[in-house]
Amino acid sequence: MRILVTGGAGYIGSHTCVELLLAGHDVVILDNLYNSKIESIGRIESISGKSLCFVRGDMRDAALLGDLFASQTIDAVIHFAGLKSVGESTAQPLEYYQTNITGTLVLLQAMRQAQCKTIIFSSSATVYGQNTAPFVETMPTGKATNPYGNTKIMIEQILQDLVVADPAWHVSLLRYFNPVGAHPSGIMGEDPNGIPLNLMPIISAVAKGQYEALQVYGTDYDTPDGTCVRDYLHVMDLAQGHAKALEYCARTQGCEIFNLGTGNGLSVLELVHAFEESTGIKIPLHYAPRRDGDIAVCYADASKAKRVLGWIAERTPKEMCEDTWRWLCRA
Ligand code: NAD
Ligand code: WQD
Repeated sequence: MRILVTGGAGYIGSHTCVELLLAGHDVVILDNLYNSKIESIGRIESISGKSLCFVRGDMRDAALLGDLFASQTIDAVIHFAGLKSVGESTAQPLEYYQTNITGTLVLLQAMRQAQCKTIIFSSSATVYGQNTAPFVETMPTGKATNPYGNTKIMIEQILQDLVVADPAWHVSLLRYFNPVGAHPSGIMGEDPNGIPLNLMPIISAVAKGQYEALQVYGTDYDTPDGTCVRDYLHVMDLAQGHAKALEYCARTQGCEIFNLGTGNGLSVLELVHAFEESTGIKIPLHYAPRRDGDIAVCYADASKAKRVLGWIAERTPKEMCEDTWRWLCRA
């Protein structure tokens, strides 16, 4: 198949493109490099040993999207592009709704015009809001705690409505938990523009001496060690989940939701210890108050992805830490 990957130069997109190329697909990336770098394209090609087509542009540009679909046959779209910072979305909601919602609408209109009706969408565990873990796909989503999460809920709804209006669409909504890690080669990993905000990149920055200590946000949660529990999964497992979802989505009409997580929770302190054991580097800790908006425990019921897609996240916390560290220590 020829797959359009929006946001394919970004963290999860780049790892997924490697898997798609290795599986024999042709890949077209559309990315405006807002949160990624052009080097990402060379890394994908170098690891996979295959070339791809890169279009630098904004998914909100209807003329560009029209030309892109008119000039070639795209069989399916994997839609990663968007803004993803929870905190920033609270300060800049209009930018988040504009990019994520308008961008998706422009993309879907171009797809419909071209009769391309297969799409995999990057959703997030954040849509589960205040539900209680383990999160199951059938739980009501309702309202998220921040504008970023609301864009994910709204886009899921848009895609579900589209399938009701036209059952010929093939849609998979993939709800990722906490992706971490990097390609095991050490030449590709998370490479955002700006400062890190998620736990693993911050642990790594402390290990590199860029920060004095890790701020542990909250030690009084109702969890075994008092710190928050999350479902960290290796980005390579996540990338392989997309390849499986694509196989499924291409042959199945309608809309299906899948959690992509390990099904296991790890606390902040457990991830820190895994990192210390994997790298031999001590991470100084500073116990800080809870961070606004955090829930105590978030992990997936990952059984549907296993049952329907035949996918499980297999890589261990040790591999997640080792691969992250190898990427960060690159020359
Ligand atoms: P990322 O920021 O690394 O990748 C997103 C890519 O989209 C970037 O390369 C960026 O330049 C591009 N982009 C942004 N706006 C664009 C626009 N208007 N037009 C074209 N390209 C644009 O993020 P990621 O971590 O790879 O996440 C990919 C997707 O997965 C996002 O939709 C995100 O919300 C979702 N997600 C991520 C996580 C996570 O923790 N990383 C968890 C759940 C869901
Ligand atoms: C993990 C844990 C923090 C930084 C976010 C989004 C979610 C999804 C994944 C996109 C929490 C603690 C963190 C630090 C800390 N993204 N922490 N010190 O919040 O679970 O999920 O990314 O969809 O939508 O909300 O991930 O990595 O920010 O935090 O103690 O310096 O680490 O409190 O418990 P989170 P995170």
